[in-house]
Amino acid sequence: MKTVATLEDLRANLNDLRAGNKTVAFVPTMGNLHEGHMKLVDQARREADIVVASIFINPTQFGENEDLSGYPRTLEEDKKKLIAEGCHLLYTPNNAIMYPEPDLTRVEVKKITTLHCGASRPGHFVGVATIVLKLFNQVQPDAAVFGLKDFQQFTVLKTMVDNLFLPIRMVGVDTGRADDGLAHSSRNNYLTSDERERAPQLYRILKQTKAAIEGGDTHFAQLTRQAKEALTQAGFTPDYFNISRRLDLEPATEDDRELVILAAAFLGKARLIDNIQIDR
Ligand code: PAJ
Repeated sequence: MKTVATLEDLRANLNDLRAGNKTVAFVPTMGNLHEGHMKLVDQARREADIVVASIFINPTQFGENEDLSGYPRTLEEDKKKLIAEGCHLLYTPNNAIMYPEPDLTRVEVKKITTLHCGASRPGHFVGVATIVLKLFNQVQPDAAVFGLKDFQQFTVLKTMVDNLFLPIRMVGVDTGRADDGLAHSSRNNYLTSDERERAPQLYRILKQTKAAIEGGDTHFAQLTRQAKEALTQAGFTPDYFNISRRLDLEPATEDDRELVILAAAFLGKARLIDNIQIDR
């Protein structure tokens, strides 16, 4: 695996790698790679001939009081993991490359970005959509692979790709979890050992709510209240717990069949997010 840090080197290496009309699958990340990210690289290998990953901690998607400066940076370990998973090219640009002056352009996907994480983190998805479009334009992949752990992010980016007619196939990969159900996340590093033991309750409560809905319960407001209470009992500070329809992430009604429950909760310093899909 080659690592390139400039746009010129990226283009030169992509040119070589693409020789003979080879296809490219792209996995954008912010590094501190874990098994969840590795599932994406594994899927990318099945989607195209060449796998390109990027590591860039994107400042514009972090709010003022968020963890940008403390975000874990583990480049050497990340490279080893990517090599072991069969990644061909790693792109590690810096801020000057991704946000050259005059830096005047942002990408806004409307409506769905005002809900869930967008409501708690104003501006977050403008930062995400902007950086992903920039990376897409630099790498020009045939397919791009994202985790469904960030379900709203995937929906926002898929909408951007559709609305802007980007010729990129969007691939979503199921959430990678530890044996006890906790979704792998770089932010799990912030948990104390006591918090780490409680952390799987988030997914347990999602599964419990899913089971109730599958059993015919459509009192969504009440189910939401109960779930938030259970989260609080388990030591979380719930941010949101929303039973939504998958189509547009708006609140689910009794008639909706394809649902997703989206949840975010603080556990100590960590803000954990997770979700579960339901087909009724
Ligand atoms: P990051 O949090 O590093 O995640 C990179 C990719 O890994 C995303 O597509 C995310 O959904 C996926 N991912 C994270 N945890 C996962 C898990 N447990 N199972 C499966 N996939 C998982 O998401 C971002 O970075 C950024 O917002 C980015 C898209 C790179 C733009 O800056």
